[in-house]
Amino acid sequence: MTSGCSGAVEMAIGVLCSEGQNILLPRPGFCLYNTVAGSRNIEARLYNLVAERNWEVDIEHMESLIDSKTAAILINNPSNPCGSNFTKAHLRAILAVCEKHKIPLISDEIYADMVFSGQVFTPTATLTSTVPILTLGGLAKQWLIPGWRIGWILVHDRNNAFAQVRQGLFALSTLINGPCAPIQAAIPKIFNEIPESYLPELNTQLESHARILESELRKAPGIEVIAPQGAMYVMVKLNLETFADIADDADFCHKLKWEENVEILPGECFAYPGTARLVITPPKDKLHAATERINAFCRRHQI
Ligand SMILES: Cc1ncc(COP(=O)(O)O)c(C=O)c1O
Repeated sequence: MTSGCSGAVEMAIGVLCSEGQNILLPRPGFCLYNTVAGSRNIEARLYNLVAERNWEVDIEHMESLIDSKTAAILINNPSNPCGSNFTKAHLRAILAVCEKHKIPLISDEIYADMVFSGQVFTPTATLTSTVPILTLGGLAKQWLIPGWRIGWILVHDRNNAFAQVRQGLFALSTLINGPCAPIQAAIPKIFNEIPESYLPELNTQLESHARILESELRKAPGIEVIAPQGAMYVMVKLNLETFADIADDADFCHKLKWEENVEILPGECFAYPGTARLVITPPKDKLHAATERINAFCRRHQI
């Protein structure tokens, strides 16, 4: 058990990678991975996700980054910021890279099961009997309680490859106290007693929010929406050349905030400039108001 999934990220990277080694991380990707790696002098090597292919991993690029000092590969599925969900075939292709180079996988599945209609979420560890995997999760997203700070690491050992890793995780978990006891005690109730309809209803609601953003933002000049398949986000490409006075994605988000009081995150936060990420969780009336303002902003700044 860890203090939020953030604690799980920290422990998983800490247990698998040493100073001077490197770890492969997604671009665009959740910025905490870089921060944790950097704070431990572990080199972060960013493999590309391909927007045109529903943000699948560029497998060739991923493989080209591997050398003898690569200690782990990290994937995040469904993804923050992409809102994407990998197919089984694609997860198998990633696992084949791990298998070939004998590298363990960290699979951040904090958005497990949060996928939209027509999509199937697959836990990565169900697809391999040889690649050892640390699966990261928590209560923050599916159960909408980020403030409870509950996360976890599931150790999917294969052929006893993780014997020392298990010991290392145990040692790391003694460094600080984990999540508080009363909240841990609530977990069995949360898992067993929340009605089965809860998650499908949540996903239906989230999808309807995502579709509002998608259809409304398609009307805004200079913005290209990439339809999400799950999680809580919509990524958009900013066609910066169509604006008269916007320097980059950070400038777009900064001006949008001050002129329209709408806050979205620039892609630069996810090592992917030229894009921006919107969160789909606000109430529908707020989403409509926000998209109207984004639309007005884009029209005003158009060449
Ligand atoms: C991909 C990903 N991993 C981990 C976390 C951290 O989750 P927690 O709030 O449980 O620390 C987040 C939170 O946004 C996330 O998006």
